[in-house]
Amino acid sequence: MANVTAKGGNGAEADVLTIFGLTGDLAKKMTFRALYRLEARGKLGCPIVGVAIDDWDVERLRTHAREAIAATVTDPDEDVFSRLAARFSYVQGDYGDPATFEAVAAAIGEAKQPVFYLEIPPSLFSMVVKGLGNAGLTGNARVVIEKPFGHDLASAQALNAELHEVLSEEQILRIDHFLGKEPVMDISYLRFANTLLEPVWNREHVAYVQMTMAEDFGVADRGRFYDPVGALRDVVANHILQVLALVAMEPPAGNHPDSIRDKKLELFKAIRSADPERYVRGQYTGFLDVKGIAKDSTTETFAALELAIDNWRWSGVPFFVRAGKEMPVKATEVSVVFKRPPPLGVGGGKRPGQNEMTVRIDPTPGARLRFLAKKAGEEAFEPADLEVLFEKAPGEEPEPYERLLGDALAGHRQLFTREDSVEETWRIVEPLLGEPGPVYPYEPGTWGPKEAEKLTRGICSWSDPWLP
Ligand code: BG6
Repeated sequence: MANVTAKGGNGAEADVLTIFGLTGDLAKKMTFRALYRLEARGKLGCPIVGVAIDDWDVERLRTHAREAIAATVTDPDEDVFSRLAARFSYVQGDYGDPATFEAVAAAIGEAKQPVFYLEIPPSLFSMVVKGLGNAGLTGNARVVIEKPFGHDLASAQALNAELHEVLSEEQILRIDHFLGKEPVMDISYLRFANTLLEPVWNREHVAYVQMTMAEDFGVADRGRFYDPVGALRDVVANHILQVLALVAMEPPAGNHPDSIRDKKLELFKAIRSADPERYVRGQYTGFLDVKGIAKDSTTETFAALELAIDNWRWSGVPFFVRAGKEMPVKATEVSVVFKRPPPLGVGGGKRPGQNEMTVRIDPTPGARLRFLAKKAGEEAFEPADLEVLFEKAPGEEPEPYERLLGDALAGHRQLFTREDSVEETWRIVEPLLGEPGPVYPYEPGTWGPKEAEKLTRGICSWSDPWLP
């Protein structure tokens, strides 16, 4: 077996990409599109080996890739597709069988800098990594691991320990596709490229922070995946906490690959373990009829909670977070809401409302700064919004999977989650997993159970997302 001192992750460009699970659903929806877009940009320079249990050959893989691309790319270019299809080869095999990894080794040939992408069920991650190690394929490899990474703190620690028997931390690239989203990256730029914001970005000036991740659809055909998972594990423990870390972390110091990941870790460490008393779960009516969901399931499709950060910048500032399926709209945004000014001799003696900075991640990424201005013809305030849309040329910027796969090939690790952060985020939500409390029903097309309103009471109410 390869040993833990293996180097890898050294920034060298990959000379082969091997994808375990390339016949699966995620590949169909995301990976082929991402590969096509990388090819179109000239960012793919290596052969691609698909590995799966299905009894396919390379021609079947190419046909499948063509269909998947036709379904996800508008007007695909035949030349781009031909170049991509020519890179494919296929290895059929059981991941528990050493012969599969010998076949992978033969397909990889003399490659010096392999990248392995594991888009397979999480229960198979360590089996495949061990198989690769035993076949002597991990010495200089980078291994990209799909989510979910564990289902609680103990399982994440156990998985990390198993992977580290074969790989060093630098070799492991854990995917959280939110980190590959342009508007999520924009958060650090907004915060640290604008001197205006930094002096007010703290407990002296901020009243509270609110984040919503709403989806206007249900669990659809993902019942079997979703039932043992639920909203807290599916999107709060990863995507939402990762976004909050970028909103709340200290400015990164120095320009090394880990400067942002270090600051995020520091922030996660300062987030108090979540309080079950400040957590509300909901389940939409009709969830129990979804295929793959147990008839008596108490899994949440909506989660709302309050988080507290124990550090100099944020002590006392509540962070309210909610995520749900079957909400009225699809929208993901985070708002930093500032303290109200005192009542003054303007506005008819009324107290002005609050300034608010909102970053919209989805749809149509952008930022909005809410000022208060005079209402025309009246002695009263009214909101005056300064809005910027981040998108310069529609469709041009890399999409999350395209960016992350491109980074994995190029050896850039910044946008992947690190062992220490993954364990901290599980530590934060752990009390809620142990003591989830009741699940309240809500009707599809509403903002979740009314119990969620109690969470913010006395401080604010949940605000409707800013929509384009
Ligand atoms: C995934 C979750 O990680 O993120 C899904 O498993 C969720 O349940 C999805 O719908 C949301 O991602 P995006 O990029 O569509 O906002």
